[in-house]
Amino acid sequence: MRRPVAYVAATGRGVPAHVMTNHDFAAIGIETSHDWIVERSGIHERHIARDGETTCSMATDAAREAMRRAGVEARELDAIVLSTATPDRLLPSTAVDVQASLGAKRAAAFDLSAACSGWLYGLTVAEGMIMSGVAETILVVGAEKMSAIVDWTDRATCVLFGDGAGAAIVKRSKGGKGILSAFMRSDGELAELLYRPGGGASVPFEEAMLTDRSHFVKMAGREVFKHAVRSMAEAADRALDSAKLTGTDIDLMIPHQANVRIIEATAKHASVPMDKVFVNVDRYGNTSSASIPIALDEAIEQGRVHEGSTVLLVAFGAGFTWASMVVRF
Ligand code: ACO
Repeated sequence: MRRPVAYVAATGRGVPAHVMTNHDFAAIGIETSHDWIVERSGIHERHIARDGETTCSMATDAAREAMRRAGVEARELDAIVLSTATPDRLLPSTAVDVQASLGAKRAAAFDLSAACSGWLYGLTVAEGMIMSGVAETILVVGAEKMSAIVDWTDRATCVLFGDGAGAAIVKRSKGGKGILSAFMRSDGELAELLYRPGGGASVPFEEAMLTDRSHFVKMAGREVFKHAVRSMAEAADRALDSAKLTGTDIDLMIPHQANVRIIEATAKHASVPMDKVFVNVDRYGNTSSASIPIALDEAIEQGRVHEGSTVLLVAFGAGFTWASMVVRF
């Protein structure tokens, strides 16, 4: 086990007030049912941005809460790493909008794109910046307005996602707490199993997209499911092995919240009993890279993560990308 370099000083979340239940899909003409959605995914409801709420505004709310709890002022931030698949604009980054709204005058700011694994990628990047000495106090945010990129006429995808943001203040470790191990992987050969075909630089936005809807998320659900189960199992093993721990040493596992069946399969593989697994996909749906920091923030608030807890974080997302981490709090 390596000596930790960086630790999570505090967390926060920024979640839209508006809640959309499974029953609300009928009102927008989606042929589905509460039972179908719960049986396949475990999702009951999700938060959806409204009234001018943006990826930046949710990120800023999450950041302010994390900063207040860590006792960190905006001028003390050296860097803002913002993971998102739903930037407010394609240029410049949403991270600079957050930098401006916080008034973080000394901070470098950039977006990171690794879909649902993005927040764990971001924590690993932050750890590297601390290790190299370029930064001491870093805000790592996962923020997503998935409602802006899902196709609200495609029942196979629109029922699965939600909006929100989670954030952490990451600082140089003191004592034994912090990131004990980290693992990241990708496989771009599988990119087209979960992607947005249109609207980027290779297929710029054009009028035809308004009818072919190729600028929205497309997902081969069954294929994604199989890869998610396999990759999250690998990720859990790799983070545990490199921390020289087993599932029984873990106080809480916080997996990416996409689907309760994927979560259960990952927990079983890692030998972590479900009473040591944090699940809130029922209330949030899949918030992509915001899912782990939102869940971590709730777990801390509920006292399920506290001083001395050893936590396994595991993610999988579009790309595909997958990642994991063991963190001592
Ligand atoms: N309501 C009712 N019926 C539906 C719905 C819906 N919302 N969506 C699809 N169906 C129907 C389909 O049309 C299909 O009908 P048919 O058999 O008559 O053709 C039937 O349900 C079965 O569809 P499948 O897609 O085969 O259903 P499956 O059991 O695979 O469940 C699901 C679908 C929930 C999407 C599942 O594949 C899954 O969870 N995949 C992983 C998705 C995921 O987690 N993605 C995110 C991970 S990565 C990231 O977080 C970015």
